[in-house]
Amino acid sequence: MKISIIVAVAKNNVIGKASGEMPWHIKEEFQHFKKTTFGHTVIMGRKTFETLGKTLKGRQNIIVSRNVSYSVSFSDVLIFNSLDNAIEYCREKSEKQIFIIGGGEIYRQAISFADEMIISRMKFEAEGEVKFPEFNKNIWKVVSTEDHEQFEVFRYERIK
Ligand SMILES: NC(=O)c1ccc[n+]([C@@H]2O[C@H](COP(=O)([O-])OP(=O)(O)OC[C@H]3O[C@@H](n4cnc5c(N)ncnc54)[C@H](OP(=O)(O)O)[C@@H]3O)[C@@H](O)[C@H]2O)c1
Repeated sequence: MKISIIVAVAKNNVIGKASGEMPWHIKEEFQHFKKTTFGHTVIMGRKTFETLGKTLKGRQNIIVSRNVSYSVSFSDVLIFNSLDNAIEYCREKSEKQIFIIGGGEIYRQAISFADEMIISRMKFEAEGEVKFPEFNKNIWKVVSTEDHEQFEVFRYERIK
């Protein structure tokens, strides 16, 4: 099972605001996210889910929360109390590829075991407190890039 991180990062590494808000709304970037993740399982932290306020259609949504009594009003969502358990569930379901979709706390953990990172590098700086973690460029290689007007998509693979 391939574990892919997908994220949009501003030039100053910001990915979001402490309030949960995304600092930008770029339709083309959202379309890239949708096209890439559609049909797959997406795993997100409880705070990111609450920012979305809804499930992402056409994808199995998984939320992770350490709060064992956490529940949501959507019947099609799965909730796990650890990231490991969420990933184990996906392995047992023989998923081919799953996407880790944030936010900061989840990326910080997943970056140590993900196989791939699909990073939209926005062509501007943004205000916000939540940042994408620094990563060791020596263990990741860029395998493709795709340029768009306001961002460039870099696909990284972990060097085995
Ligand atoms: N630019 C992008 O591509 C992008 C993508 C996604 C999100 N974001 C931004 O990122 C920000 C949110 O990130 P964040 O770091 O504040 O929060 P987050 O990572 O979305 O969620 C953190 C929460 O996830 C749960 N959690 C974390 N690790 C866990 C584990 N190992 N096991 C079980 N539960 C675990 C905890 O929930 P409980 O507190 O309930 O225990 C924790 O409080 C927002 O500003 C959002 O807009 C940006």
